[in-house]
Amino acid sequence: MSLSPIKVALLGIGTVGSGVFKVLQRNQVDIKARTGRGIEIVLVADRATDHARSVVGTAAEVIDDAFAAVARPDIDIVVELIGGYTVAKELVLKAIENGKHVVTANKALLAVHGPEIFAAAQKKNVMVAFEAAVAGGIPIIKALREGLTANRIEWVAGIINGTTNFILSEMRDKGLDFDVVLKEAQRLGYAEADPTFDIEGVDAAHKITLVSALAFGIDVQFDKTYIEGITKLSATDIRYAEQLGYRIKLLGISKRTDKGVELRVHPTLVPAKRLIANVEGAMNAVVVQADAVGTTLYYGKGAGSEPTASAVIADLVDVARLHTADPLHRVPHLAFQPDAMQKDLPILPMEAVTTSYYLRLRVADEPGVLATITGILADARISIDAMLQREAAEVGEGAAQTDVILLTHECQEAAMNQAMAAMQALPTVLKPIVRIRKEELN
Ligand code: NDP
Ligand code: HSE
Repeated sequence: MSLSPIKVALLGIGTVGSGVFKVLQRNQVDIKARTGRGIEIVLVADRATDHARSVVGTAAEVIDDAFAAVARPDIDIVVELIGGYTVAKELVLKAIENGKHVVTANKALLAVHGPEIFAAAQKKNVMVAFEAAVAGGIPIIKALREGLTANRIEWVAGIINGTTNFILSEMRDKGLDFDVVLKEAQRLGYAEADPTFDIEGVDAAHKITLVSALAFGIDVQFDKTYIEGITKLSATDIRYAEQLGYRIKLLGISKRTDKGVELRVHPTLVPAKRLIANVEGAMNAVVVQADAVGTTLYYGKGAGSEPTASAVIADLVDVARLHTADPLHRVPHLAFQPDAMQKDLPILPMEAVTTSYYLRLRVADEPGVLATITGILADARISIDAMLQREAAEVGEGAAQTDVILLTHECQEAAMNQAMAAMQALPTVLKPIVRIRKEELN
């Protein structure tokens, strides 16, 4: 039996939208063979209609009013690729209200308004698919929702922002300046419309928030995610980390503990021998630790036109296959059935997080300084794992100053905050202490 083609409206035909259009056209024979029916983009809504026409030619109707598109009775699936929280939210909710399934790459929208959108979709028995929202072309949502469904997931850690990984790699390997590399990431279409979302860790936080919901069956809680970006990272710390056998990566981390869920994004020292430490450029990688399967690693392009289109089209195929299925037989939006979500598993405040640390202290190079610092750490019951002291000449500020770099064992962030405040108050500590968290990921 051959079903008629499913009809799709594409809202926004920029970097990702044009990739979706092109890949769907190029691979339509295989995609139809896999889906069991054709998937046809019959309508494209973009305010830049001339550009849209230059991409689609006469293959689809082009309009400038996205609200008209979501109201059209002939459309089965709306693909939202406009981005942002405002118009996109209205469009998605309207599409759902009109009984359309939605596919989106918009992690910002789902991280902030996911609960409202998923609830509306459940009420109307429509699907909201968002594979492209986390780690671009890597099928990590599919892995968490379906492939790992037998497991109790313990933690997830990932390089889930291509722009910042590209910036860190280019700065380290080519010695290029931050601003130059950011411009290149924008030119290549990796960066968000507002690139501060990338460099301040907000985009990674949107993604890890969604991942935490899928992994642990908790609500999407972006407002409780701890966020620190890469703008304060210095080349000095990248170099010292290398000397200690570590690489610095911007990681999104979510861990289940006895007391609740850790949910955080920050620059992180990772042992250089781990595979994830060697993920370079705009590539993404996600490590999942689960009880039955153990460790699994997912690697691939996390941004860009066709890699992201790959994930959007995978969602289109899923939705087209399940379009006629009983809604009860579909995979739940957030992996767990809505009435079986964990309501009593809180997100832990950052002070309650347990991790290890890299500290760099610019100190006066005089007797007793190191003993005082290690004494403060000992009083806070923080154990030192490794230490490095740079010669004054290397620091480049004369014989009176030196850099002391400490790696600690695990402790609670609250204890580290207290110890740092005590160390910072010493007259021999000459500059703000640099603190970067460290994860062994073993
Ligand atoms: P672009 O800015 O390249 O494309 C968005 C398109 O939507 C533009 O053509 C824009 O027109 C159009 N548009 C904006 N507002 C409206 C409106 N009100 N009505 C109709 N059209 C409108 O974005 P991307 O393709 O890069 O990103 C799309 C989504 O995918 C975002 O949510 C993003 O976070 C996500 N994403 C992006 C990835 C990437 O690699 N780029 C990877 C993963 C997810 P105009 O140019 O005139 O503003
Ligand atoms: N700006 C995002 C990134 C796009 O750099 O990873 C992919 O979500």
